[in-house]
Amino acid sequence: MYPGSEGTEVVAVDDLDLSVGLPGTVHGFLGPNGSGKTTTIRCLLSLIRPTAGTVRVFGVDTSTQFHQVASRVGAIVENPKMFPNFSGRRNLSLLADLAGIPKGEVDRVLGVVGLAERHGDSFDSYSLGMKQRLAIAAALLKDPDLLILDEPANGLDPAGIAEMRVLIRGIADQGKAVLVSSHQLSEVEQVCDDVTIINRGRLVTTGTVDEVRRHAGDDEIVVTIASRDRAVQVLSAGGLAAHPRPTADELTVVVDVAQASEVTRLLADNDLYLSGLRTERATLEQAFLNLTGGPPPPTGPPPGAGALPPPTPVSGGAS
Ligand SMILES: Nc1ncnc2c1ncn2[C@@H]1O[C@H](COP(=O)(O)OP(=O)(O)OP(=O)(O)O)[C@@H](O)[C@H]1O
Ligand SMILES: [Mg+2]
Repeated sequence: MYPGSEGTEVVAVDDLDLSVGLPGTVHGFLGPNGSGKTTTIRCLLSLIRPTAGTVRVFGVDTSTQFHQVASRVGAIVENPKMFPNFSGRRNLSLLADLAGIPKGEVDRVLGVVGLAERHGDSFDSYSLGMKQRLAIAAALLKDPDLLILDEPANGLDPAGIAEMRVLIRGIADQGKAVLVSSHQLSEVEQVCDDVTIINRGRLVTTGTVDEVRRHAGDDEIVVTIASRDRAVQVLSAGGLAAHPRPTADELTVVVDVAQASEVTRLLADNDLYLSGLRTERATLEQAFLNLTGGPPPPTGPPPGAGALPPPTPVSGGAS
């Protein structure tokens, strides 16, 4: 709960219970702007103290004993301060010195984030994506078991976002647990093993990506074919749920996208040849819309802010 204007209170995170952090996995922490992701992460890192409830990381209550797990948790919550005129390597060396980390670690983490070749260039000559990667390198210096990244893809172009996904996957593949937040559900969908979606500070759903996607409905295959009505008959007779679409030469088959070959085989066996086929996978974004009954709300305090009972912020079992 944050103090709001004129004596009100803003309940940023309310009764959220989630469990994240299996080694080798990426857990997406997703929700629209203002849904409480950063507040939750700040609680996890003991940067702010929840007004009620407890937050546990590796079994330790972070509001009182974060120091016990601090060495196992690396994080980027806000843009870390770097010296603009110093090279990436020098910035990391300074951080390593401050934390008593051996210099060899600097080269290791520069390699992990793909900055080994550009280590000597000044920080202010780096692209936004490189700056983000340097920040991740800084968070990896202490070789943490859990890496928490708050919106690491913010502001990056599509290529930068793709690079970030590869980097995050690579870090998890080295055995780390990664918690990555984003307000762009599609941005991290491909890289996550599990996701938690929140809205207005409350849990919407949590589970594996496939489990959560199921809330979006079924995958579909869209076929473009001249003899559309005949094709619908053939596919239906073959046991597939096929329906004409509003467009004259298109039909939808509600089937797992992995079964696309079955669709083409059935049609070809009946001398029907398609001119196009595309798959439409159920997305996390659609799951969010189905579960919340509408588009993500605009940024701002949740309804009833100031009138709700005390929240129970987060239980983040990260062990
Ligand atoms: N320091 C603060 N004081 C008062 N209210 C705050 C403060 N920080 C956040 N809030 C409010 O708490 C709620 C959750 O904000 P938070 O920053 O945690 O959301 P978020 O999911 O990280 O959003 P974004 O995607 O925009 O980063 C919002 O209603 C926000 O306005
Ligand atoms: Mg945020």
